[in-house]
Amino acid sequence: MEKVPVFDPTPRIKERARINSMDQYWQMVKEAESDYEGFWDKLAKEKINWREPYTKVLDESEAPFYKWFVGGKLNVTEQCIDRHLETKKNKAAIIWEGEPGDKRVITYLELYYEVNRFANLLKSKFGIKKGDRVVIYMPMIPEAAFAMLACARIGAIHSVVFGGFSAEALRDRIQDAQAKLVITADGAYRRGKPYMLKPVVDVALAKDCESVEAVLVVRRNNEEIKWHDHRDYDYNELIKDMPARCEPEIMDSEDPLFLLYTSGSTGKPKGVQHSQAGYILWAQLTMEWVFDIKDTDTYWCTADVGWITGHTYIVYGPLAAGATTMMYEGVPVYPDAGRWWRMIEEYRVNQFYTAPTAIRLLHKLGADEPDKYDLSSLYILGTVGEPINPDAWMWYFEKVGRGQCPIVDTWWQTETGGHMISPLPGATPIKPGSATFPLPGIFAEIIDTDGNKKEPNEKGYLCITKPWPSMIRTIWGDPDRFVKSYFGTCKKDGKPVYFSGDGAIYDEEGYIWITGRMDDVINVSGHRLGTAEIEAAIGHHPRVAECAVVGKPHEVKGESVFAFVVLKDDEGVADEMELIKEINEVITKDIGPLAKCDEIAFVPGLPKTRSGKIMRRILRSIAKGEEIKQDTSTLEDPSVVEKIIQIVQG
Ligand code: WTA
Repeated sequence: MEKVPVFDPTPRIKERARINSMDQYWQMVKEAESDYEGFWDKLAKEKINWREPYTKVLDESEAPFYKWFVGGKLNVTEQCIDRHLETKKNKAAIIWEGEPGDKRVITYLELYYEVNRFANLLKSKFGIKKGDRVVIYMPMIPEAAFAMLACARIGAIHSVVFGGFSAEALRDRIQDAQAKLVITADGAYRRGKPYMLKPVVDVALAKDCESVEAVLVVRRNNEEIKWHDHRDYDYNELIKDMPARCEPEIMDSEDPLFLLYTSGSTGKPKGVQHSQAGYILWAQLTMEWVFDIKDTDTYWCTADVGWITGHTYIVYGPLAAGATTMMYEGVPVYPDAGRWWRMIEEYRVNQFYTAPTAIRLLHKLGADEPDKYDLSSLYILGTVGEPINPDAWMWYFEKVGRGQCPIVDTWWQTETGGHMISPLPGATPIKPGSATFPLPGIFAEIIDTDGNKKEPNEKGYLCITKPWPSMIRTIWGDPDRFVKSYFGTCKKDGKPVYFSGDGAIYDEEGYIWITGRMDDVINVSGHRLGTAEIEAAIGHHPRVAECAVVGKPHEVKGESVFAFVVLKDDEGVADEMELIKEINEVITKDIGPLAKCDEIAFVPGLPKTRSGKIMRRILRSIAKGEEIKQDTSTLEDPSVVEKIIQIVQG
């Protein structure tokens, strides 16, 4: 590995940070190593407001279906709201800004009433009970957070579906979860224009969604929408009459808190199931350790609540920590590429957390924009979602952070619930592009499939070799797939361990460098997409016989979607642009615009092994314009590779 610069924490950060030396970090790591359960026991007792204490820290008897804090009782909304009322009732819990510039500040006391009213509405009007599934398909408005917390208040399981997903994708998720209620909004604002969600829900529910009894619609942009009598309900009307107190449902540590669908390498998206206690504990702890959140801070994570980052680091984590969390409705470049920097100045944001793809975009569109604003309130910068390239890192560090703010490059996943590998801002010397070290208590290791630790500079499987409190509990309705997907690849000491799907490398100093997915998942602008899902969508175009999708490196998006398509007929492609447009329309309909192909090559065949497996590695090399190093002689038809190269590379 080439030499990279190392940046030590500045005195300014060391002074305020809870964990402010590597000695302290290693001390914590050692504590977890020497007494794993004791380590977590102490934290769970100290941090969680239990209704009833647990009787066992970790139950491994049905591994890999691990149970944490067995027998404990709590309600996560008490952790996130009620317990703060004594000391912070008038503190801002959520600060929201709409894209047009409208603002709302919601104090903890107001949040308490909003969530309680919402919870009462769910119970009294829609009969939602503990264990029922509620799909939330919402824009970035405070009601999205209220809806999640209202579900948690009464023990219903929410499943938030990202607002960029299509009606078909929404329907798949509604069906899989067998949701009883869908909460949505008329629409919101994006790039200066209204964009609509309710019509998408209408299309989704037009077919095979018998489980859904009602749709609750929050008014945001007041655009005209269709109302279905006896199914659609107006939130803004109904909420007025709701009592402002709702007794929380007392939940077991291991009761499901939410489902969140994510892509895997095969088949349909998986409903990742998270628990109550373990999840909220880690959400809160990582806010304290990684963002060093303090009572006076204003913290801003730019994710969408439709992704895990929005769950853990806009809603649950910051609120559990009693912080002020910001929410922004729109895109970063509206009305110009200074929007975010202006907001940081205006709200005096202290911690700012975003994705490399957004950093690259803002760097490209407005490299000097940050100079126009006073960003001196910032203490800590964060990134998440994909590896960050050194160029983008340095710009973020120098321009946005003025060389004063450590960047916490946080590696984690929907399945891990919270950060797993990340610098601690007051302790870890950081290197641009490295997520550095596992957090205390997290046994992230780069190993081979037998559990041997990799030597520096050797790529291996990024695994987490001990269970942790905020880990995925199962895949909703498919426990076998859970075991196979995550515990079927690597073992350590003969025991199956969690494999993340990512590859990684240690450098000479033990820093971890994530190299990206080792499976057929691609990462487009930080969105996780399964090549299998995109291929299935493309296959729905009537002229497509078969296809293969790969990721191709992209300057802003990280990866872009590249499809190799074989047509059924040999009529040729008279109007290639038209056919590409049609195929992208099918993808937009089946999944959403986020999965559209940047490039499509029409090819006579795909490189397959004699057993019929598509050699995606060869296609990846062709897409990148690389020389083919793989042995093609074992292919069913080696000549097809030459033909594809001809077509793609001209
Ligand atoms: C990738 C997002 C490099 C990785 C929280 C992982 C990263 C997938 C980083 C999970 C990072 C996430 N550096 N790669 N700091 N963070 N990834 O489930 O490939 O949407 O497996 O969760 O994003 O994506 P997911």
